[in-house]
Amino acid sequence: MDPETQITLLEAMLDGSRAAALFTDPSQEDHPVIYANKTFEKLTGYSLDETIGHNCRFLQGTDTDPEAVQKIREAIRQETSVTVTLKNYKKDGTSFWNRVHIEPVHAGGRLYFIGTQTDVTVEIRQKKRLEEKEREIEHLSLPVLEIDDGIAAVSLNGEMSVERYRRLTVKLSEYVQEHHSHSVIIDISGLYWDDDTPIFDLLHIQDVLRLMGCRLLVTGISPKAARDIASETGPERPLTAFSAFKQAVETAKVAGALS
Ligand SMILES: Cc1cc2nc3c(=O)[nH]c(=O)nc-3n(C[C@H](O)[C@H](O)[C@H](O)COP(=O)(O)O)c2cc1C
Repeated sequence: MDPETQITLLEAMLDGSRAAALFTDPSQEDHPVIYANKTFEKLTGYSLDETIGHNCRFLQGTDTDPEAVQKIREAIRQETSVTVTLKNYKKDGTSFWNRVHIEPVHAGGRLYFIGTQTDVTVEIRQKKRLEEKEREIEHLSLPVLEIDDGIAAVSLNGEMSVERYRRLTVKLSEYVQEHHSHSVIIDISGLYWDDDTPIFDLLHIQDVLRLMGCRLLVTGISPKAARDIASETGPERPLTAFSAFKQAVETAKVAGALS
């Protein structure tokens, strides 16, 4: 195949590609684009005339994360490849999430950079929506119930991550403040308990509640959990624990009546 035909075919392939693609020349003033495919034109709304001869930063705007740009700047300086997702702007001013991949290439004894741009706006939006939904479910899945005057209870199920404990701490402290609770019972019988279970987070909840004038009682403790808690807590920071929920409620009622 003669070189001209090869170039025509390669260009057709690039123009038909789903990803926007371009080359830049770092040896020229301000590192301009020297070639861009048709998909780049379609994605950004900028014609090839408006693109070629300019630095790609024309895609950036008010909400472009400077840290992402710094990452690109550093990769170019070190002549390494980089993939960054950042907010860019089309010619009509609408923003989109651009996943840019930049790769240094040596050709004909000179250095060039190849860039591919993919619009990942839908993916990012879905991810954000999913995270919001997860937060909502998480919030609802830790319901705090008023089981007697001044006694609140919450049941923990499944695995407790540090993040879930953090949310529980916030939720409980808000609840206690609002309802003037004197005791909180946390039932852990549905909790998956292993060596990584963060006992210190239970103690942290206890410290926070104590500062608010409220005591913590833990129920549903398995023998293994009891041993783990005993070995971690020590006499100076004891955790009030019961195997049966009813026992904890009775203790909380008595303590409430005395306080
Ligand atoms: C091959 C290549 C493709 C690039 N593509 C984009 C892009 O799509 N969007 C963007 O915001 N920046 C892109 N950049 C980064 C900018 O051109 C520029 O390097 C960056 O803004 C950091 O440099 P500055 O501090 O001079 O602005 C690309 C850079 C290169 C080398």
